[in-house]
Amino acid sequence: MQAVIDYLKANQERFVTELKEYLRFASVSAQSQHKPDLAACADWLVHHCRQIGLTAEVRPTAGHPIVVAKTPRDPKSKKPHFMVYGHYDVQPVEPLALWETPPFDPVIKGDSIYARGSTDNKGQNFAHLKAVEAYLKTGTPLPCDLTFVIEGEEEVGSANLDKFLKANKPELKCAAVVISDTGMPSPKHPALTYALRGIIAFEIKLHGPARDLHSGVFGGAIENPAMALSQLLAQLRDKNGRVTIPGFYDDIVPLSKFERQQAALYPLKDAALKKLLGSPQLFGERGFTATEQRSARPTFEINGLTSGYQGEGSKTIVPSWASAKITCRLVPNQKPEHVRKIVCAHLKKICPPTVRLEIAAGHGAEAYLVSPTSPHAQAALRALQSAFGCPPILMREGGSIPIVNQFKKILGADSLLLGLGLPDDNAHSPNEKFNLKCFSKGQLMSAHLWQELAG
Ligand code: BES
Ligand code: ZN
Repeated sequence: MQAVIDYLKANQERFVTELKEYLRFASVSAQSQHKPDLAACADWLVHHCRQIGLTAEVRPTAGHPIVVAKTPRDPKSKKPHFMVYGHYDVQPVEPLALWETPPFDPVIKGDSIYARGSTDNKGQNFAHLKAVEAYLKTGTPLPCDLTFVIEGEEEVGSANLDKFLKANKPELKCAAVVISDTGMPSPKHPALTYALRGIIAFEIKLHGPARDLHSGVFGGAIENPAMALSQLLAQLRDKNGRVTIPGFYDDIVPLSKFERQQAALYPLKDAALKKLLGSPQLFGERGFTATEQRSARPTFEINGLTSGYQGEGSKTIVPSWASAKITCRLVPNQKPEHVRKIVCAHLKKICPPTVRLEIAAGHGAEAYLVSPTSPHAQAALRALQSAFGCPPILMREGGSIPIVNQFKKILGADSLLLGLGLPDDNAHSPNEKFNLKCFSKGQLMSAHLWQELAG
């Protein structure tokens, strides 16, 4: 192990240079113009994996390709097999004007590397590759066989990975999946995440007049779709922060006393959270702490709202339509398709006859909950402690990694969520960054993890 640790220490500068190369690909999965960037990024990754001593290939899908890379192994190997999952696709960069440096031109400022995808998820996942490189390049025997599965569609719902898992079950069968694509509260608080929220995505569109109309000539005698949409959406949450859709909270398992105690230990307190987020006040469902609200309670969230004229100056129209992009975060035991059904039924019920309602369904995924006391979880906690030098905390997270449910259902494998992102990393926001300490400690954590998991 000492050789591995020394190798990691000696090569940090090069690792950062390589990460910069990786971050230069504009691998935005949601935007079709970036398809070639995703393909190029996958090729780069395969090439890089081969350089560090893995066997690697691009596996095409109906969407963006998947990169599969493996540690060299004996076909009769008796070592435990683990998957390391990550994604090389990134979120859109808009609004571009708010970036202090270009999103795909990585720069180091202070302790961090700034670029889209730095924390979510290229940097975090790269830490595992570098740990494996240290084993391979120092000739230190790896106590586990590892298969990296790095996909290009996580940020758009992982639609094709599901099929890939089903088609390649024997190849991908593993004892557990290791994922660094979540967060930790601070460099002094490494964390094991034992739950993620689920999600349903959809788009609502209200159609009014057949075309935009002169608001002076026709306004007042016809419904304004933007107003109708505002009124519709405004009914969906009450003043206590509760979603008003009948049945929305029906299936939820209440938080146990132990979980509420764990949540209370989360070190980012309300005042610091408010400051970090730059919002005039915090707001959430009454009866729950902010930590609970953002990790263990379901939400109805407007992600985008569009209607009428958005250009310079004014334009006096009644817009022809108005639309909203919506996601609901779900918690354990809520069924995505059921929630989708009751949400749609409620929208239809309260939609006024003055507009025509159109709902387009998007992706969906169940929440995830795994035991934080299993032997694998204990091994992970020890690896975190060794790498970071402080006791790790247990936490639930509010984000979603849809494919973890498929890992369980198709491969029978639990996911170990060992996040390296910090709350101020600006994931999905302008000026995304990744802390270089989290990067180097993450490599160390990964190096220890394989020993602990095999032991
Ligand atoms: N890395 C995130 C997931 C995440 C972030 C989990 C922080 C927990 C804490 C991932 O890349 C992500 O953003 N997932 C999407 C999934 C969605 C598009 C289906 C999400 O949560 O919005
Ligand atoms: Zn993300």
